[in-house]
Amino acid sequence: MWASAVLLVLLGSFGANALDNGLARTPPMGWLAWERFRCNVNCTADPKNCVSEKLFMEMADRLVEDGYKDAGYEYVNIDDCWMAKQRDANNKLYADPERFPSGIKGLADYIHSKGLKLGIYTAYGNFTCQGYPASGMHLELDAQTFAEWGVDMLKMDGCKQMDRHTMKKGYPQMTKYLNATGRPILFSCSWPDYERGAGIPINYTLVAENCNIWRNYVDIQDSWQSVLSIIDYYAKEQDTLVPVAGPGNFNDPDMLIIGDFSLSVEQAKAQMAMWAILAAPLLMSNDLRTITPEYRDILLNKDVIAISQDNAGIMGKRVLQSGLVGIWTKQVQYESWGVVFFNNGTTATTVTIKLKDIGFSYILGYDCRDILNNVEFGHIGIDTFNDWNVPSGPGGVLMIYCYDSE
Ligand code: GLA
Repeated sequence: MWASAVLLVLLGSFGANALDNGLARTPPMGWLAWERFRCNVNCTADPKNCVSEKLFMEMADRLVEDGYKDAGYEYVNIDDCWMAKQRDANNKLYADPERFPSGIKGLADYIHSKGLKLGIYTAYGNFTCQGYPASGMHLELDAQTFAEWGVDMLKMDGCKQMDRHTMKKGYPQMTKYLNATGRPILFSCSWPDYERGAGIPINYTLVAENCNIWRNYVDIQDSWQSVLSIIDYYAKEQDTLVPVAGPGNFNDPDMLIIGDFSLSVEQAKAQMAMWAILAAPLLMSNDLRTITPEYRDILLNKDVIAISQDNAGIMGKRVLQSGLVGIWTKQVQYESWGVVFFNNGTTATTVTIKLKDIGFSYILGYDCRDILNNVEFGHIGIDTFNDWNVPSGPGGVLMIYCYDSE
């Protein structure tokens, strides 16, 4: 009884700014089908890559066997196009029986047997973005169905809900129904992105009260240009976005495309480094069955993941621009920092600054380390000029971790 009283107090102390499901205390990590596998439903022509239970089972196997689960990646998330084209006789959603012969419940059991969690997708409005049945008229029933199946995370999209003004009501209704199921289901909302697109002012306090993570900006595509445009958006909006992030609540700049077709190894390091600094969900959308080791190593970099997953849950921001190099910092526990020097130019460059210039104030100085290349820099005072060598871009990054010297 005391234990539950303490739990209640803890839950209560999340305050008004959090969904009361106790989830996403740090940015969620896992895998999400969309960017890589899209709405490929042709299992006859492309059995290996179509949206089917086999795809999710194979990704779960890779997460476990190739070290991703040990590194923290735990959600296996279905996106659009999993449903049958109609609801059943009781109005319930169900999975396309040919592509998901075990049903979502069967798939959830498999995922859980691996010690992983299952995420699913729906939309506010009558149809998903690809035209499959969605939850608009059935929020309560669908919340219950997802909970019965053992779903652990829900992404609720909304492109077919033409009146974006209704989202302020609809998403919180779904939050209420999810909470009422009693099953902790991490809630990923696309609502702010649609309001932004429609020019409707976004009430981030309300968003954070109702969602664990939320999309702010357009879909990521498999290109460096796309990654860059997202980073630019976050830099531009940081004064709005940083204050709403924290344990239980994170801005979502969309999936990691590391290991797909377009990013160079350097650019892949840049995406990983920046998503960690932004306290972004780390949801990979790639083919873990064929990814090459140099990309896998980036996704498994423990020091970078530690900055992303720090318990304080602080979202980092750009604190200085030096020519074409943006300098981003994220405070982690106590007086420690993750820093990214992000080179948008095409040549390698040296940035000469004092740690004080980027907000470090511990009087005895810091010990710093290059965590992408595992090089120690040793002790650095806050008032001495230091040369930071940043690799060539676009997308060259130096990422360091600095902790206060004793
Ligand atoms: C929208 C979302 C994407 C993806 C697709 C699926 O575009 O933003 O992340 O879920 O729909 O159709």
